[in-house]
Amino acid sequence: MKSGRNESSSKKLVSAGAAAWLLLPLLVLVVLKTDSLPQITLYSVDGVAPSPASDGEKDVAVADSIKDSNREQQFLAVNGEVDVSSVNSDSKNEKHFLAMNGEKDASLINSDVAAPAMRSNLSCNFSSVRMNICGMEGDVRIQGKASTVYVVSVSDYRPENSTVIIRPYPRKWEIPTMELVREITVRSTAPPREPGSSATNAMEDDTAPPAPRCTVTHDVPAVVFSTGGYSMNFFHAMTDVVVPLYNTARRYEGRVQLLATNYDRKWIAKFRHVLGALSSYPVIDLDADAAVRCFPSAHVGIESHMELSIDPALSFHGNTMMDFRDFLRSAYSLKRSWTTPVSRNNSSSSSSRKPRLVILLRRHSRAMTNEGDAMAAATEAGFEVVPAGPEVFGDMGKFAEVVNSCDVMVGVHGAGLTNMVFLPHNGTVVQIIPWGGMKWPCFHALGRPVPDMGLRYVEYEASAEETTLKDVYPRDHAVFTDPLSIHRQGYGMMWATFLDGQNVTLDIGRFRGVMEQLYQSVTLA
Ligand SMILES: *[C@@H]1O[C@H](CO)[C@@H](O)[C@H](O)[C@H]1NC(C)=O
Ligand SMILES: *[C@@H]1O[C@H](CO)[C@@H](O)[C@H](O)[C@H]1NC(C)=O
Ligand SMILES: *[C@@H]1O[C@H](CO)[C@@H](O)[C@H](O)[C@H]1NC(C)=O
Ligand SMILES: *[C@@H]1O[C@H](CO)[C@@H](O)[C@H](O)[C@H]1NC(C)=O
Ligand SMILES: *[C@@H]1O[C@H](CO)[C@@H](O)[C@H](O)[C@H]1NC(C)=O
Repeated sequence: MKSGRNESSSKKLVSAGAAAWLLLPLLVLVVLKTDSLPQITLYSVDGVAPSPASDGEKDVAVADSIKDSNREQQFLAVNGEVDVSSVNSDSKNEKHFLAMNGEKDASLINSDVAAPAMRSNLSCNFSSVRMNICGMEGDVRIQGKASTVYVVSVSDYRPENSTVIIRPYPRKWEIPTMELVREITVRSTAPPREPGSSATNAMEDDTAPPAPRCTVTHDVPAVVFSTGGYSMNFFHAMTDVVVPLYNTARRYEGRVQLLATNYDRKWIAKFRHVLGALSSYPVIDLDADAAVRCFPSAHVGIESHMELSIDPALSFHGNTMMDFRDFLRSAYSLKRSWTTPVSRNNSSSSSSRKPRLVILLRRHSRAMTNEGDAMAAATEAGFEVVPAGPEVFGDMGKFAEVVNSCDVMVGVHGAGLTNMVFLPHNGTVVQIIPWGGMKWPCFHALGRPVPDMGLRYVEYEASAEETTLKDVYPRDHAVFTDPLSIHRQGYGMMWATFLDGQNVTLDIGRFRGVMEQLYQSVTLA
């Protein structure tokens, strides 16, 4: 479906002639939905990332966890099916699981008194095209090294789905990406037999191994995700991991334990601001974890709605992409929530502020061969230009500040444009689309999400005159006469030709015109 739409819409939009001078429709200023302004209260609790627990911080965590465990006990008291007479070997664990705060070794618990057996519930949703997820509450035991999550004594247990396998990365339709993600097995067990019932219970699977005993008990929910897949790419990190983690874990306001499979130390370090704002606890390396960790509830898999955005109809509390950006701004301690448009007549005087424009400079492909001229054109149009080469992406926190200090971001299609998430609200993104029938996929990834973020979108589609492909292929080659025929030769061919295979040489006259219009639109009379 995706590629079908891709081709038909691209066909409509791109022909060599039509692509050449799209000056009028270039400036697509999207009207902001002022009724969807962010509700700021959500992230005020722990905007600052706590560092991995020192002793001083532990007290706070324990105080919080007492509150939490009261809440959990309430949940269990209200919802649990209590069966006092039915005691199995696990009920001792269940009792301490209810009573404990913080981490303790289960063997230290001395319980001779029979506890009521707990019933758990489990609900999985495999219907999304993006991800498979399971939510569970009750007695959840995670054995990281075995990649197994046990849900003990599930009230509506069914033997036919007692084992569910999930790759916790929301890009289900991309098989090669998903192959890079470790499988997690969710194994549910039947409730204990009713006393006095006949010895054989048809619903019980006697061949299933029993759940292992807890070695560590947590009193906060768990979220299992993956830092594998394609997440080293910044666009994928945001759309596949950070936004879905926000969708899944933000509701717990920090009192949630994140567990990562395909644990990537570099990734965890790079995204420490975000991870620290989502969870008060260090992320657990699931693959290396020898413990059996018990949780009152868990999510396996994270929730993704669409590329680089959030559907408020599907998100917890109706959270929006603007809420997500407010959360990020808090996590990175960024100053500007909104742009502050300057007035045009002042900006010629040296004392007044000019609108700031950050221009992303790529180096190996989709580079602007005349980036110096492009920057000069933007400066002449009235902007203060901030160049950003690949060297600045290394320190995310620092670059987030640079982006947040700007009003406009300009760049050729690529992961760097994902940094738009740090622009202040009402900022503008200019995406330069390289030659080759690339409008639809580029728009889908980095254009369509822009208004959801409370930003404005401008598209500049490079013409056949503005690509270095013209130095490589004759003008009667399919690369120019029928670029979509190259797409039809496969994703790899499309990628090699139009994404890796070209640089962009902007028509400076055309680009200057676009910059001048842009300047008018972001300044006040
Ligand atoms: C678990 O069951 C209780 C009712 O027993 C319900 O309130 C709760 O929403 C269920 N949780 C899930 C994840 O299905
Ligand atoms: C188990 O299978 C039944 C149908 O046989 C389905 O209704 C239910 O949602 C499944 N549960 C899980 C956890 O997959
Ligand atoms: C399952 O997920 C789909 C798509 O995300 C959603 O539309 C649907 O409401 C979900 N079903 C349940 C029972 O939550
Ligand atoms: C693009 O330009 C860079 C220099 O900035 C060069 O190293 C690279 O080979 C060029 N790529 C293509 C596809 O022309
Ligand atoms: C966004 O900025 C434009 C000027 O660039 C201004 O006219 C408009 O009122 C701003 N919108 C909001 C909601 O601040």
